[in-house]
Amino acid sequence: MTTIKRVLIHSSLILLGSSLLAACSPQGSPQVDTSVDASRYDLQLDIKAYMNMVLDPISDVLWDYAGWVDDVNTGYEELYPTNDEEWLMVQQRAAQLIEAGNALALPGRAMDDDGWVTYANALSQAASLAYSAASSRNQEDFFQAGAQIYSVCSACHQTYNPEISKFVNKN
Ligand code: HEC
Repeated sequence: MTTIKRVLIHSSLILLGSSLLAACSPQGSPQVDTSVDASRYDLQLDIKAYMNMVLDPISDVLWDYAGWVDDVNTGYEELYPTNDEEWLMVQQRAAQLIEAGNALALPGRAMDDDGWVTYANALSQAASLAYSAASSRNQEDFFQAGAQIYSVCSACHQTYNPEISKFVNKN
């Protein structure tokens, strides 16, 4: 079921993703801002662990609630939250994703100071759309926000590690 939903999300995203990509391609040698003291943060999670343990679990929950499934056997089914408790839960996830975008941009974690930070900020902005949509219980906006989150993940992966594709279809 998840596969169908993700295909739907994917198809609406290619444009968004490529425009972000054009805006964010790193130019020249990476610049890292060393003026901020990175020792004030605990950066024990490397990027791979951060992705698997932090970003992926948060965004998976959002995607699980942002869309619909059209299955030959079970028919059309909406995945949106159906009660206050579920909307609150996805709003909390969206809030976590806003902050996870900040954590991605931390000095010492950010791989450079331009494209990387732009993507990290874009992630927080997309999560912020999900946060508002959950707050107003707007299904369409929530779906769009989920799509936008997906496009930021993909665009950053294409820029920094084009080999990554499994984050889409692992379910
Ligand atoms: C700022 C750039 C950036 C953003 C934004 C980003 N990623 Fe990543 N992601 C990476 C990089 C770089 C790697 C490769 C890490 C490595 O293998 O060392 C990665 C790897 C991954 C992996 C594979 C980890 C593995 O075990 O190989 C997953 C899963 C993943 N990201 C999920 C996500 C999800 C979900 C999002 C969006 C919610 C996201 N990422 C957003 C940069 C990003």
